[in-house]
Amino acid sequence: MDDLKAKYLGQIADAGDEDALEAIRLAAVGKKGEVALKMRELGKMTPEERQVAGPALNALKDEINSALSAKKSALADAALDERLRTEWLDVTLPARDRRQGSIHPVSQASEELTAIFAELGFSVAEGPRIETDWHNFDALNIPSHHPARAEMDTFYMHRTEGDNRPPHVLRTHTSPVQIRSMELQGAPIRVICPGGVYRADYDQTHTPMFHQVEGLAIDKDISMANLKWVLEEFVKAFFEVDGVELRFRASHFPFTEPSAEVDIRCSWEGGQLKIGEGDDWLEILGSGMVHPKVIAAGGIDPEVYQGFAFGIGIDRLAMLKYGIPDLRAFFDSDLRWLRHYGFAALDMPNLHGGLSR
Ligand code: PHE
Repeated sequence: MDDLKAKYLGQIADAGDEDALEAIRLAAVGKKGEVALKMRELGKMTPEERQVAGPALNALKDEINSALSAKKSALADAALDERLRTEWLDVTLPARDRRQGSIHPVSQASEELTAIFAELGFSVAEGPRIETDWHNFDALNIPSHHPARAEMDTFYMHRTEGDNRPPHVLRTHTSPVQIRSMELQGAPIRVICPGGVYRADYDQTHTPMFHQVEGLAIDKDISMANLKWVLEEFVKAFFEVDGVELRFRASHFPFTEPSAEVDIRCSWEGGQLKIGEGDDWLEILGSGMVHPKVIAAGGIDPEVYQGFAFGIGIDRLAMLKYGIPDLRAFFDSDLRWLRHYGFAALDMPNLHGGLSR
């Protein structure tokens, strides 16, 4: 037994890693290890011999086991010391001197408008981009035969035969988030919902994927006057210039009654887009008083509650504010364009510091 002890404690002391330790453990105290084999011999001994040999074998086993675990933690400590010695980082090194990435104008505009609406008491709500056609259309008072479905150039999700899940679409606007917010929060509500939307359309001011921000305010006494004030305050704050001219036009949406669209005066001269001058108008938003059927579809009582909603094109706001004439370039991922129109990553927009400085 003394030989066994000397042999294994010596091996343990010399072991260089955990694998070596495990091999020693199996050979010494494993089920078929040397100590176990010795224990089997106990059966052949006289009771007197056994009384001496039994406890001595158990003590040997314990001793080997504790030597194993002491060595194991010593190895782990050494490994940690080694990592701490080699994997260190000099946090006092200067940052890279050349800006590699930048904030996309759509992200910048989204941050800016979120800051403005937060100041007006609106919180941010979200919904899925792959939306049920019930949320995107039916709940918004656009039943399946309605011409607005065709006008929207909707991308429908592929369906295989026998698929009995509800049909889904790539949302064509952020208005379904009105329904989701009402379902989730009930009344009263004051939210904005920025995010990507999709329509099959492509020219200088249209891309198949673009961005909107929905606004929804529901309470007992909200009026069209509140809507007009909120939109005017927003536009003034967003463009940070005095001479912005807005045009409210009577319009029609199935989900609002009455409805209004808002255009901004601009000029496109010489490939340059400028706001507040010229004879052109760029439509930036649709709005109106939420239709009672829509309020009911959201699970709120239209006899008690009413409110306004609007949907603003974020990309168009960015085009106007930063003078970017072609929307298609927004999504080309051309680094030269991003370097020219992008924003510094650490420049967080807020109303006090000036939004885009
Ligand atoms: N969803 C409309 C669109 O995409 C915009 C809108 C939103 C109009 C809310 C009225 C109210 O054109």
